Amino acid sequence: CGIVGIVGSTQVTERLVDGLRRLEYRGYDSAGVAVITPQGVLERRRAPGKIAGLDQAIAQAPTDGVIGIGHTRWATHGAPTLENAHPHASGAVAIVHNGIIENFQELRTELKAEGFACVTPTDSEVIAHLIASGLKQGLNMAAAFNAAVDRLRGAYALAALNVDEPGALYVARSGCPLVVGLGESEGYVGSDSLALAGWTNKVIYLEEGDRAVVTAGDVRILDAEQRPANREVHVSRAVAGFADKGEYRHFMEKEIHEQPDAIAHTLSRYVDVDAGRFNTGDLLDWAHINRLLSTACGTAFYAGAIGKHWFEAHARLAVEIDVASEFRYRDPVIGPNDAALFISQSGETADTLAALRYCKAAGAKTLAVVNVAESSIAREADAIAQTQAGPEIGVASTKAFTAQLTALACLAIGAGRVRGVLTEADEARFVTELLEAPRLINAALASEPQIEAIAHRLTQVRDVLYLGRGVYHPLAMEGALKLKEISYIHAEGYAAGELKHGPIALIEEGTPVVVAAPYDALFEKTLSNMQEVAARGAEVILITDDKGASLAGDGAAHVVTMPDCPDLIRPIVAAAPIQLLAYHTASLKGTDVDQPRNLAKSVTVE
Ligand code: G6P
Repeated sequence: CGIVGIVGSTQVTERLVDGLRRLEYRGYDSAGVAVITPQGVLERRRAPGKIAGLDQAIAQAPTDGVIGIGHTRWATHGAPTLENAHPHASGAVAIVHNGIIENFQELRTELKAEGFACVTPTDSEVIAHLIASGLKQGLNMAAAFNAAVDRLRGAYALAALNVDEPGALYVARSGCPLVVGLGESEGYVGSDSLALAGWTNKVIYLEEGDRAVVTAGDVRILDAEQRPANREVHVSRAVAGFADKGEYRHFMEKEIHEQPDAIAHTLSRYVDVDAGRFNTGDLLDWAHINRLLSTACGTAFYAGAIGKHWFEAHARLAVEIDVASEFRYRDPVIGPNDAALFISQSGETADTLAALRYCKAAGAKTLAVVNVAESSIAREADAIAQTQAGPEIGVASTKAFTAQLTALACLAIGAGRVRGVLTEADEARFVTELLEAPRLINAALASEPQIEAIAHRLTQVRDVLYLGRGVYHPLAMEGALKLKEISYIHAEGYAAGELKHGPIALIEEGTPVVVAAPYDALFEKTLSNMQEVAARGAEVILITDDKGASLAGDGAAHVVTMPDCPDLIRPIVAAAPIQLLAYHTASLKGTDVDQPRNLAKSVTVE
């Protein structure tokens, strides 16, 4: 899931491992490095599990050189073992790869016939052998690398080195992000600019189909048509050392508490406070759109599901929501007056990116809500509404989610104005309401000690149900997702009114049911559903506001209260207790909260 590489003048091993640490947040389950020693030997050190394991492997058998590559792997083909960890090697060549090589079986068979036997079940290993096979046929490294890349089908970001050419890294990008860094007398590669933070801030984002040769003082890039390409050098704002937990035990906890800032920064981008206006009215041609297709994965998908309510209510704009992995495979109808919205923290999620390309090819205008400004989705969309959450390190998304909600609210209101649904006075009122969100979410975080006490109870259980209506239905699903991701407790989010059509059969004495129901027009209906489960023995954890708490009666075993809020921002504020409940349950269980098992922060494979 993460690539680093250095071609330099001083020793690289330790620095490669540092780079891998900066990529840890993306999620991985094994790690490794390969260097060419001064004696011209290719040496690899790899370990399953965390980077500490790799540290140990290096400590036991130190190795160094002035050129090397490193990798954190998130297993796709083959278990996360030492043998399957990257770098993979074949003769003089070592490679690291992100993505999936779809035709690897066919390549394996061919390579076997040539005498190159794969020793792992991974798809990536074939790349090393393909290059080695080219070298064996007499090609130089550049030609062998190109010939190998020409054979690959699927998605890849790739870096390779060759013992016989110890001054160059060969890289290629197709479908997975890769950046090149330019140093004084060194060259770098990495999966993102964070990987390079601390080495250089001069970075080039390779484009789709690019291949490059990176040397200590230079980079030569060829585009998808193999023509020499000049790519803009950006000054990256990624800073080394940002990955600091400060006073918190986990990044996730820190990021939950950073939400007032994340929301405020996002608002400052889309709201003109003095004028009482939103500046989102021209991001799409809102007046002439019939339908908005909103596509995303995971937490970002739930943000879109809440956004749908706002676009429909405040802009009378029909919204269809899809998980990105399904969207393009069902031959969706995309009409001339449809526009497409994509929501992504990383801006690199493979399925979301593919959906974006699909919509662009179908002629739809595209708008992306992304957190990482330099990401592929940000660069490829026609327009972007960036969230200003700052780097999110915890794999389970928190502050990016509430920043996405904030941006979506600004978009929906901006659209409502342009579409003539809202008046100037409505707009000014929504500005005032949204500006309250940072303060109110901060106030909601004050229930943390109470939530922690409830979390003790959840550590004992196997299943938890989450219920909500309206905007709290997607929020209930997000709550269940958070709990599953980090505490490994099975949870399901359900529309409160749909419960009686099946899942109510799960309720028995003591089944915990989290009911997300701040006071709104649907409150009483949700309350009835709460009573239905309480009557069957459920232990209800009601998340509501002061008004809701005063009306809730005695069906709930626990009542978590957030402050009363204006309608628009209530689900944003309600996210905080939902996140804290998952966080404290996981933290009490002692799971790896920031890097839960099997998950990756940025999923660049289908
Ligand atoms: C992964 C993460 C989730 C995230 C999803 C979408 O599955 O674990 O937390 O919501 O990807 O990521 P994106 O970067 O597109 O928002």
